Amino acid sequence: MSLITSKIISTITKSNNDICNLVQRCFASKTSDYVRIVEVGPRDGLQNEKKNVPSASKIQFINKLSDCGFKTIEVTSFVSPKWVPQLADGAEVFSKINKVQGISYPVLVPNLKGLESAMSVGVQEIAVMGSASDTFSMKNLNCTSQESVDRIKTFVNLAKQNNIKVRGYISCVVGCPYEGKIKPINTVKITEALLELGCYEISLGDTNGVGTPGSIKTMLKDVLKVVSPKQLAIHCHDTYGQALVNIYTSLEMDIRVVDASVSGLGGCPYSKGATGNVATEDLVYQLNGMGVETGINLEKLMEAGDYICKEIGKPTESKVHRALSKLKN
Ligand code: HMG
Ligand code: MG
Repeated sequence: MSLITSKIISTITKSNNDICNLVQRCFASKTSDYVRIVEVGPRDGLQNEKKNVPSASKIQFINKLSDCGFKTIEVTSFVSPKWVPQLADGAEVFSKINKVQGISYPVLVPNLKGLESAMSVGVQEIAVMGSASDTFSMKNLNCTSQESVDRIKTFVNLAKQNNIKVRGYISCVVGCPYEGKIKPINTVKITEALLELGCYEISLGDTNGVGTPGSIKTMLKDVLKVVSPKQLAIHCHDTYGQALVNIYTSLEMDIRVVDASVSGLGGCPYSKGATGNVATEDLVYQLNGMGVETGINLEKLMEAGDYICKEIGKPTESKVHRALSKLKN
């Protein structure tokens, strides 16, 4: 081959590569998608544990999670210790964890007393709770759904005056352990009420994990008639093995914030029989496979999961964790 021919081929190849790179970059930026995972293991996961988990273990667990790439880790509750004794050490845990810049560490707050305690240790984000079911609300908060909204009204302004961000939860968005099926209109109403109070995001909770893609889609269709998907998150417990598919359904409806709990820990003490949230490892694996960015390091996440499972003496509920550990071994 002459020198000229080889130069021509090399120039064509180079420009071909440049074009390919450009096309790939354009394609990637068009298709790249991001889901923010809110890790709720230390709060939702540990609030239902029979075994006492020492504060030092909770702190170490949260510090490990801080190294995984989350932007939000819900760390504890400032609720009545008579109602949830497992998280009675909330103030100590919050005070002693390493606060990494760029990560928000919200805590669950049901009333003014909880907010004042949270403020006294420098909490900068709180989560408040409502419910689409009156009976669940009575069992969980000792008041009806409307009363819970009225109660939130009494302290949310104080939070905002102190630049504390407020996230809202709604439990029982499609079903209730006491009332059965929940009408979407109940969820719509309470979503609107919490947004009106100034919550920056509403996490829709399938508290006892009874939802299916059918009921989740029906509920979301109605909620999305009145709010933008950007204001919503989905929070699925996996009691009936539907969490991942329900999350997938929500993603298809443009929701981009998903709550999850490492190792599938947890449940709500006032939702009898409900098991943990979707395991964060399983969610990350699914999203990785879909080419959706999460920023989460799966290996470090599994280490955090191993740590807490050892502390509570339970095997992981994450199928991905089990499968990958077997491969490793
Ligand atoms: P109450 O008994 O009606 O309230 O409970 P009270 O004002 O009569 O207080 C009872 C006692 O608790 C008093 O103590 C208060 O001082 C104390 P005493 O005078 O008898 O010694 N107290 C507090 N102590 C510390 N911090 C506080 C606080 N408030 C009262 N903040 C209340 C009403 C709302 C307090 C109670 O029902 C409660 O704490 N509920 C929280 C229940 C809870 O945390 N459930 C789990 C979280 S919800 C969930 O998991 C669902 C979710 O994940 C989404 C989903 O999955 O769907 C979010
Ligand atoms: Mg929950």
